[in-house]
Amino acid sequence: MDDLIKKTAKKLVLAKNVAALTGAGISVESNIPPFRGPGGIWEKIDPMQYAHIDAFIKDPVKVWDVLLKNMKEIIDLAKPNDAHLGLARLEKLGILKTIITQNVDQLHQKAGNTDVIEFHGNFAWQRCMKCNNRFETRKVDLTKLPPQCECGEIYRPECVFFGEMIPPDDIERSEQVALECDIMLVIGTSAVVQPAAHIPVLAKRSGATIIEINPERTPLTKNISDWIIIGQAGRIMNNIIAELEAFL
Ligand code: APR
Repeated sequence: MDDLIKKTAKKLVLAKNVAALTGAGISVESNIPPFRGPGGIWEKIDPMQYAHIDAFIKDPVKVWDVLLKNMKEIIDLAKPNDAHLGLARLEKLGILKTIITQNVDQLHQKAGNTDVIEFHGNFAWQRCMKCNNRFETRKVDLTKLPPQCECGEIYRPECVFFGEMIPPDDIERSEQVALECDIMLVIGTSAVVQPAAHIPVLAKRSGATIIEINPERTPLTKNISDWIIIGQAGRIMNNIIAELEAFL
């Protein structure tokens, strides 16, 4: 592993344009559970019953009770971990340009990253389904669900539910980032959900080096990633930053 840490640090120092694609795994060390695998949310509840837009429109109270209430309590308490802080450090050093995240927890922004594409939206804001009025999720009164707008319509979280399209601007920008980067760090994603999982494939095809960080191999590991560093993102990012700063 140490060789891969050194190799990654050296590559990052020499790079011109580094991007990162992140998933739920990067926030596990901030006590936010992943969706799949051991302890995954979808191991306990059916995403098509509770995280699909049709389910939300049909019965928003059920979706709040079973999924969103818990998400709010966990995200309200969550703090950036060493992996988030490591990516913020890479931006400060002028190495990392853009993060494309599938996470809705805004921990990258809280860590200090300034260019974050929220590919699956965010959970920090609610938006009225009629007049687009917005308010912060942390102000939602969990005793009065679903939250209602003055216009009489209900609010919905600004995250992308299953059954919804990714906003075209976010797809376009993410594809641009993939085509222009010379290194893409792929951290904490199972790489099974499209179109996000296709972004490293695009980057690879345009000549970028793909470096995965994950305790497990993924569908990208065999044919797309140049190498994978197996382990927890927090500790690995700490080691990469320490190694990298020794080169600077
Ligand atoms: N550090 C790095 N990676 C980790 C860690 C850790 N500490 N802990 C777990 N992982 C890895 C797991 O091995 C797994 O590959 O993170 C990945 C989490 O995978 P998922 O739970 O499937 O999350 P993600 O890939 O982000 O899911 C994609 O699916 O449910 C939808 O919209 C939701 O954005 C989400 C999308």
